[in-house]
Amino acid sequence: MDMTLRPKFHITGGEGWINDPNGLVLFGGRYHAFFQYHPYSNQWGPMHWGHVVSDDLTHWQPLPIALVPGDEGDRDGCFSGSAIVHDGKLWLLYTGATIRRPYEATGGDRQVQCLASSVDGIHFEKHGVVIGEDILPHDYSIADFRDPQVWRSGNRFWCVVGARKKEGKGRVLLFSSENLFDWRFEADILRESRGTMYECPNFSERLGVLTVSEQYQPAEGKVHLNLHTTRYFVGNIDYDKLSFNATSEGICDYGFDFYAPQFFDGEDIAIGWLNMWERDNPTSELGFAGMLTVPRRLYVEDGELKQQPILCVRKQFEREVHGSVEDNIKVGMIKICAENLTSLKLEMRKDASGAATLTFDGARWLFDRSKCGRPISGSETDEDSLAGIRSMPCDGNAHTELLVVFDEFSIEIFANGRALSSTVYPSPTADGLLLSLTADSATYSHFAVL
Ligand code: FRU
Repeated sequence: MDMTLRPKFHITGGEGWINDPNGLVLFGGRYHAFFQYHPYSNQWGPMHWGHVVSDDLTHWQPLPIALVPGDEGDRDGCFSGSAIVHDGKLWLLYTGATIRRPYEATGGDRQVQCLASSVDGIHFEKHGVVIGEDILPHDYSIADFRDPQVWRSGNRFWCVVGARKKEGKGRVLLFSSENLFDWRFEADILRESRGTMYECPNFSERLGVLTVSEQYQPAEGKVHLNLHTTRYFVGNIDYDKLSFNATSEGICDYGFDFYAPQFFDGEDIAIGWLNMWERDNPTSELGFAGMLTVPRRLYVEDGELKQQPILCVRKQFEREVHGSVEDNIKVGMIKICAENLTSLKLEMRKDASGAATLTFDGARWLFDRSKCGRPISGSETDEDSLAGIRSMPCDGNAHTELLVVFDEFSIEIFANGRALSSTVYPSPTADGLLLSLTADSATYSHFAVL
């Protein structure tokens, strides 16, 4: 096996384990992305903040590790958080974790919000705990208090933090500050989670969208089949009433592997973690585990959160589809446009042993990765998960625009703005593509990544 095999344009840690994207921000003219990182093994461990930068959101260069755990408040981990530019400096607000066992005797772990800053965007100075037990209302648990996301509105800084009522379920708390150091509790702004905990709350004032990643969200029909699901609420914060008013909600991505997305500060661009907790991760054998999604431009259409991939590409060819198309692609993007689509079958990463398939049956998109190389097992035990299947609703097929982003170990599907993202582990040489469809008219385009 080729140990150097890595995604070409998806962010990884190079070596070691990564999970959530953190601190997504434009600073000094470059896009910075940080991520939860355990550089010393392919398993989750004491969390560091890995760091990459990019000029174009497609080509990422590694920078030195930004945060290392072990100081006041973050003895056992620098958990997820966010970034903001203020006074010419780059500021990180993140969760400091201290593991306290036995759980019952100690009251559990301690999770507090810590601050760090940097002048050059590479070397960070820690400023310690800025939101601790003294600020968290006493009926919330300090053991589940994490993932602050900071923004500026009016003349104040605001942040949302995932929290949990003692003996209760997930909540989202709003805090405010004038200087990033002194914070005040403002309000509990979202209804209680249906799962156990809200992780990584993320609010975009520009879009009017709040996302939350819910742990152990129970399935509703064929939706939320993953162990944990990211949900969005369309709405805005009323800073006078200190409330968030949701007008609609839904799930962010229908695939197997999507969690903990974050917006770039002040922009409608987001990146998520392209994996899921409690799944085996075949790339561990190659020395790395975990990657981030392609950056996506987010927009709201008829109350629904939609996404388009952002990727520097050049069109290689476009052709009309009469029945079927054969192609080869394992890194790049394809686009299928169809008028009055009645059926579609797309076989991807195909070789003699099988392929990942996307089918359209008139009402739903069905993705099946069960015959695409290494099977992946996880904690999910429902019928679809065991069969390697995820589905996504489709309403209206008068005009269909399907974008599929391919990279080593992943397929991300965008159907009229709805996303379905999954990892796949086929043979590295499996690059066949076979499309067959029926429609009034259709085109197929193939793009190379620059
Ligand atoms: C979400 C999460 C966060 C936490 C981080 C730890 O995936 O559990 O709540 O800060 O990962 O790595």
